[in-house]
Amino acid sequence: MGETTKEAIEALLAGVKHPTFEAPMMQLGALRLKGLEGRKLLLEATLHGGSERLQAQVRERVQAALGDAPVDVRIEWRVVVPRRAAGGDDPVPDVRNVILVMSGKGGVGKSTTAVNLALALQRMGARVGLLDADIYGPSIPTMFGVSESPHSKDGKRIEPLQRFGVKLMSIGFMLESDRDAVIWRGPMLQSALMQFLGDVAWDELDYLVLDLPPGTGDVALSLAQRLKSTGAVMVTTPQEVALQDVYKAVSMCKKLNVPLLGIVENMSYFLDSVGARHEIFGSGGGQKVAEFAGAPLLGQVPLDAGVREQGDEGVPIVQAAPNHEVAQAFIAIADALVDQIARESFERGGGKVAPDGNAPRRLRILR
Ligand SMILES: Nc1ncnc2c1ncn2[C@@H]1O[C@H](COP(=O)(O)OP(=O)(O)OP(=O)(O)O)[C@@H](O)[C@H]1O
Ligand SMILES: [Mg+2]
Repeated sequence: MGETTKEAIEALLAGVKHPTFEAPMMQLGALRLKGLEGRKLLLEATLHGGSERLQAQVRERVQAALGDAPVDVRIEWRVVVPRRAAGGDDPVPDVRNVILVMSGKGGVGKSTTAVNLALALQRMGARVGLLDADIYGPSIPTMFGVSESPHSKDGKRIEPLQRFGVKLMSIGFMLESDRDAVIWRGPMLQSALMQFLGDVAWDELDYLVLDLPPGTGDVALSLAQRLKSTGAVMVTTPQEVALQDVYKAVSMCKKLNVPLLGIVENMSYFLDSVGARHEIFGSGGGQKVAEFAGAPLLGQVPLDAGVREQGDEGVPIVQAAPNHEVAQAFIAIADALVDQIARESFERGGGKVAPDGNAPRRLRILR
């Protein structure tokens, strides 16, 4: 057999479609031949995150396209994270995506979702920050096991705390006493939160996850008016009684033009010791909310005692036991979320993988 040429390889790869955008990867600039020496073929692929699923799909498609061409393929991965359309007075212009984790309802698992989503995004090689915006009941310090107070290097900006590779800030850190929570109510709280966001030295982030307080309330409302977020992740439980409040929160997002990125159904089912599935809270709630919202159901998270235990011990389940069923559910949700953000950006940006022209960076995956 004759020697394989670059041109011949490129012709074979021309038909490889991007697993998310379903357009030819070479045309999108998301697949490139970097080198060919003898049998050694080096390709460079650019994705919007370090998703194992996407990487496997690309590998499979590349192999299928190459058929029995006499080459051994190695792929170098790069990542380019979409950027939201931040306005001129944006408090966090270096933050590519702001994700609001919310629900109309209390106690459905917003904080659990926010914390585990942040960790799952970080495992995919993203630079992640997590802000606890729940002034009345901050839970992220407990869930992450941090008790130290943040400090400032220059007397101007507050350094976020770091844990498990995620930058952390809680508005609770800033309260000197319970009395502060009282006087910070209403409009003062709104402006405090906005100022606070901008006062934190986040640096460049791919994703800033905001854990919002319960309710359709004014916090989400004023945030939406003053900060162009990427969108909201709505958390619900399966039972019918919880849905009305969640519908209200969805309607509010629509009114404020906050894109609904997807729905997470938490406490969906319970697996007993022999692995049988019990839908103790009924079923279908997440799907109903998703249909009402016109957004994808990103995933269902089972009810498991480990979630609470690990949360209380200060090591969230995605960090403590990444192979646990609940952790795997959150990892799949993060994957689906990143895909959804990329799809929306791709459509908005007229079919470009990196509409803002930013150079992709080398992917470092932490798993
Ligand atoms: N899938 C799950 N399995 C078991 N326990 C869970 C699960 N999700 C959340 N929990 C537990 O339920 C409680 C409420 O969760 P969480 O604090 O995340 O809810 P929340 O919506 O943020 O509440 P709030 O409205 O008070 O902010 C916590 O003790 C948490 O550990
Ligand atoms: Mg909470």
